Amino acid sequence: MFGTLLFLNVTSNHGQQIMSASAVQLEASSKTARFWNATIGKKAVMAVSGLVLFGFLIGHLAGNLGVFLGQKHFDDYAAMLKSMPAVLWGTRITLLVMVFLHIWSAASLWSRNSSARRYQYVKKESIVSSYASRTMYMSGPILAAFIVYHLLHFTVGVGGTPFEEGHAYENLVAGFQVWFISLFYIVAMAMLCLHLYHGIWSLTQTLGFGHPKYSPRIRAAAKAIAIAMFLGFSSIPAAVLAGIIKPVESSI
Ligand code: HEM
Repeated sequence: MFGTLLFLNVTSNHGQQIMSASAVQLEASSKTARFWNATIGKKAVMAVSGLVLFGFLIGHLAGNLGVFLGQKHFDDYAAMLKSMPAVLWGTRITLLVMVFLHIWSAASLWSRNSSARRYQYVKKESIVSSYASRTMYMSGPILAAFIVYHLLHFTVGVGGTPFEEGHAYENLVAGFQVWFISLFYIVAMAMLCLHLYHGIWSLTQTLGFGHPKYSPRIRAAAKAIAIAMFLGFSSIPAAVLAGIIKPVESSI
């Protein structure tokens, strides 16, 4: 089509002026198309990696809630995970790749958005997404910092609270008996809640469920899921602080 326009371009003087303008417009719109394609590609990477991480979080929450069933249940569950090194390392490597892809797509969308703000054709998108984006770019790095501390705390055992390999229940209770560590976890879970709310919403838009008829229901579902995750995860440090989940004497 671009070739046809260039051919018409040389047919008349008057035509040349009109078609030159069209050619410029078309070139701009082909640039726009390339821009959108690349952006949609990155959003798809973000959506798929986010979905995999979300799947992990559901499994992680379900496993962690087992702490309410007592020390034996929780320690057996932790031991069972460790007894399957292929599954454990497969999950760890998948998570690492997904976290990398998620951060990479977020960073490149962020730099693309900030440099594209100069052009008129992306202005609408920036305005529509600005609130969600600002929240994501604040909660994302806080969550990344939380994950680093969390791994040091409960997996490596250098989080500043008593830790003994193979005693998942006691490690967890000792970890959350320190009120400011529990508070840090609960604040991080609030960030997770915000991140999930906007993430689930954006995911549905990227996957093409953006019909105005369904938007209020999608928003309500995203909010309900995010709040449920917040309550589920936060209930654990809160229950330790409240003395509902207690240490087992003699363990550490
Ligand atoms: C209050 C909330 C949470 C609690 C009580 C909790 C508890 C735990 C515990 C006990 C472990 C160590 C398992 C073991 O090695 O025996 C662990 C590992 C882990 N947690 Fe959490 N977690 C919480 C929230 C989160 C969140 C929100 C994320 C991600 C955003 C997360 C990501 C991970 C990862 C990646 C591991 C390492 C798994 C592995 O060993 O490969 N956790 N968590």
